[in-house]
Amino acid sequence: MTYINQLSNHIDETVTLKGWVYNYRSSGSLVFIEMRDGTGISQCVVAKDDVSESAWEGATALKQESSLEITGTVKADERSIGGFEIHVNDVSVIQIAEDYPITPKDHGVEFLMNNRHLWLRSQRQWAAMRVRNEIIFAIHTFFQDRNFVQMDSPIFTGNAAEGSTTLFETDYFDEKAYLAQTGQLYGEALAMAHGLIYTFGPTFRAEKSKTRRHLTEFWMMEPEMAFYDLEMNMDLAEDMIRFIVKTVLEKRPKELEILGRDISKLTPLINKPFIRMKYSEAVDILKSEETAAMLDNILASRKQEETELKKEREEIKKEHGSAKKWRKKQIEGRQVEISVRLDQIEEDYRNIPQWKESAQNFEWGNDFGGSDETVLMMQYDVPLIVTHWPAEIKAFYMKRDETNTLALGMDVLAPEGYGEIIGGSQREDDLEVMHERIEEEGLDKEVFEWYLDLRKFGTVPHSGYGMGLERTVAWICGLSHVRETIPFPRMMGRLRP
Ligand code: 4AD
Ligand code: MG
Repeated sequence: MTYINQLSNHIDETVTLKGWVYNYRSSGSLVFIEMRDGTGISQCVVAKDDVSESAWEGATALKQESSLEITGTVKADERSIGGFEIHVNDVSVIQIAEDYPITPKDHGVEFLMNNRHLWLRSQRQWAAMRVRNEIIFAIHTFFQDRNFVQMDSPIFTGNAAEGSTTLFETDYFDEKAYLAQTGQLYGEALAMAHGLIYTFGPTFRAEKSKTRRHLTEFWMMEPEMAFYDLEMNMDLAEDMIRFIVKTVLEKRPKELEILGRDISKLTPLINKPFIRMKYSEAVDILKSEETAAMLDNILASRKQEETELKKEREEIKKEHGSAKKWRKKQIEGRQVEISVRLDQIEEDYRNIPQWKESAQNFEWGNDFGGSDETVLMMQYDVPLIVTHWPAEIKAFYMKRDETNTLALGMDVLAPEGYGEIIGGSQREDDLEVMHERIEEEGLDKEVFEWYLDLRKFGTVPHSGYGMGLERTVAWICGLSHVRETIPFPRMMGRLRP
């Protein structure tokens, strides 16, 4: 058996492929099968004269997603999907599929999400999962090459680390247990044993918001480093993101193309340093007249673009009636593009004035909302690392600066409105201060005894961060919603399939 992504090693040879019918078309004595096998798609041509009677019968009975085995000769063919064509000499049907619910026509997202178990077979979903896999592998490569040890933190936990409002509570033999919101507290213990560690596992948040950035179950990768301060923490995060982006660009160009990703938005990351600033500076930028003017300019340019698109739409509509067949097709394609873009512009008309108002009225001390992050990032083509946050809005474990008012936290914001992909900090390493924090926050002291031990027995400066895998996949793939970045998303209102 040969896999489709290996066909280039078998030109002019006879191979056997096993897979499913992705697309099917027949014309007289020819059958064209776009076959997928998990590694790619290849065009297979069955000519009635080249195959046995039973093989021809099988080939003509095929339907979308039927499973089959094909034997044929590999021909290089640039015009074909995947760059090869199989001239078939045998077809063996494994199963003729029932009518497949997902057809090439446009389906709504709800329908596709209800059929997620099948939707995963579609090209774009397939490509996104391949990129996800590449990102995971790049993360392991990056850390293993730097002598970090992967260790695992528990999923059942007695500790609330990231606030009590998003905890999933479970009954643990008559005791309360929570599903982990983060592996961090355990990561700190592990870093004191091994120096440099990372955890990578599922984390849970009872997020009651239905946004494009929130899942209730998501994967977080969390390095924790003994003897690292905030600066070193930022350097590590920046190097890691750059490595991930570089790796995906190198190894998954085909998948990015399927996703229609504009890679010129990713390439600046390879060489340019990320932007770093303190929270206060970010607030100033957000509230500045320049930012307000920038948003006004964007609105004005949308207005102009809308006028031009509507004019073009009128013109090609007129042309359509008398156009040749190939041109009609072209026009129809362009009409779809125009209507998608006009919808986006509509959305901008609704959003941008609100974003502007929220940016102008932002008050120092608040956390950035999704729109504030988007507006901030409109000015940069590389990630932005925001540090020195008002301590009140950050977690109890973050170390504070000399004024005791700012937390040595860092948020990494992705470009293009993808928002926060990393949250991290230097950790409070002083026993007394940590005692106070736990008291101030009204946390259960007993539960944190073990965590305080880390400050009793050889405490050292240390830092770490957590990167949300799904938000990172969304950004790198250019997907507008995290639901398409994980095989089976769990969100408010979505538990099945
Ligand atoms: O900023 P967060 O809450 O940080 C922590 O949990 C720290 N304990 C991590 C650490 O320092 N070891 O979450 C980290 C990242 C966010 O930046 C975001 O990418 C992702 O986790 N994240 C979510 N992703 C999807 N859905 C959600 N509901 C998420 N909440 C956080
Ligand atoms: Mg955060």
